[in-house]
Amino acid sequence: MKFNTKTIHKGQKPEKLYGSVSLPIYQTSTFKQNEIGEYTYDYSRAGNPTRTNLEENICSLENGQDAISFSSGLSAISSVVQLFSTGDHMIFTDNVYGGTFRLLNTIITKYQIEQSWVDTSNVNNIVSAIKDNTKLIFIESPTNPMMTLSDIRSICDIAHDKGILVAVDNTFMSPYFQRPIELGADFVIHSTTKYINGHSDVIGGVVIAKTKEYGEKLHYIQMSVGAVPGPFDCWLTQRSIKTLHLRMPRHNENGMKVAKFLQKSDKIKKIYYPGLPSHPQHELAKKQQLDPNGEPGFGAMISIDLETLDRAAMFCKNLKIFTLAESLGGVESLICHPAKMTHASLGAEKRKKLGISDGLLRLSVGVEDAEDLIDALDVALSSI
Ligand SMILES: Cc1ncc(COP(=O)(O)O)c(C=O)c1O
Repeated sequence: MKFNTKTIHKGQKPEKLYGSVSLPIYQTSTFKQNEIGEYTYDYSRAGNPTRTNLEENICSLENGQDAISFSSGLSAISSVVQLFSTGDHMIFTDNVYGGTFRLLNTIITKYQIEQSWVDTSNVNNIVSAIKDNTKLIFIESPTNPMMTLSDIRSICDIAHDKGILVAVDNTFMSPYFQRPIELGADFVIHSTTKYINGHSDVIGGVVIAKTKEYGEKLHYIQMSVGAVPGPFDCWLTQRSIKTLHLRMPRHNENGMKVAKFLQKSDKIKKIYYPGLPSHPQHELAKKQQLDPNGEPGFGAMISIDLETLDRAAMFCKNLKIFTLAESLGGVESLICHPAKMTHASLGAEKRKKLGISDGLLRLSVGVEDAEDLIDALDVALSSI
């Protein structure tokens, strides 16, 4: 079955009682047991049919062996880290979503898991950071918000040679434009809050495992830790996936049109979008970020540097259609100021090192008419 058909049919078992085409939401905490211990599902933290439908569906899109869904992207990341133990060492992409950094830097540090934060866009940095106790390499590609790519296949080759596992946060691309397991990754992570759900109305996360063995371990963590999504959120996310293959090409088309317009402006100090030939990793993006037909796709996340906080604030104030808000990947266009919003928890020094200036803005280009978005951006640029 090909990708687009899978978004609609995988995991969608026919409903037996009335033949309902849209699957029911099993909004229940518990299940009747026929005899003591005789059941398919016993309790919704351990499992729920609506959640199973969603997990089977996402699993098929990333070509994994198992998928485990969570109540947020961060609980998905936290569960992958919980596969490991005190004394283990992990390597992380230095520029990740601010919440991921906060989780690792303030909560996970308590468990004495050693961490190295390196620029994973250069594989030599990874090679130098590997130690005898390195167990996991965690990459975000492209990164939030600097849009830096890491070469997933090369990193997996290096890691697997040394028995190290690789996890990829694929939130910015969705499985429509990047399928890390096909490139060798052991785990794929999504904040399903973003493109997978795509309608800015659910917080959720998922891990897709390359092997059944790690799938089982993660289901155990999911059940034991209890950070599970409710049945209604699973249903909404599943419903949204049915149009993932329609939304993503449109996001990509709009992203490219907006980026091409923005790159012409002399009011912008720098633009970060892997679809532009000026992006230092444009060639890698063309090779690594492929739609199900093998055509390159660059998504709809764009960062622009307007140099100062005042200029960024003026731009946002005069920008119509785009909503100033955290999050991304929804059908509606959003704009955010990473230094004061998504990446505030990094602290000024780390932000400066990564290039997250006070003038940086991150755009999540939606699926509106591109002409309207460009007109709105033009007006806002004229105001600074
Ligand atoms: C790349 C990335 N990963 C993970 C997360 C965390 O996801 P959630 O907010 O669903 O916990 C985010 C949130 O913005 C993100 O952008």
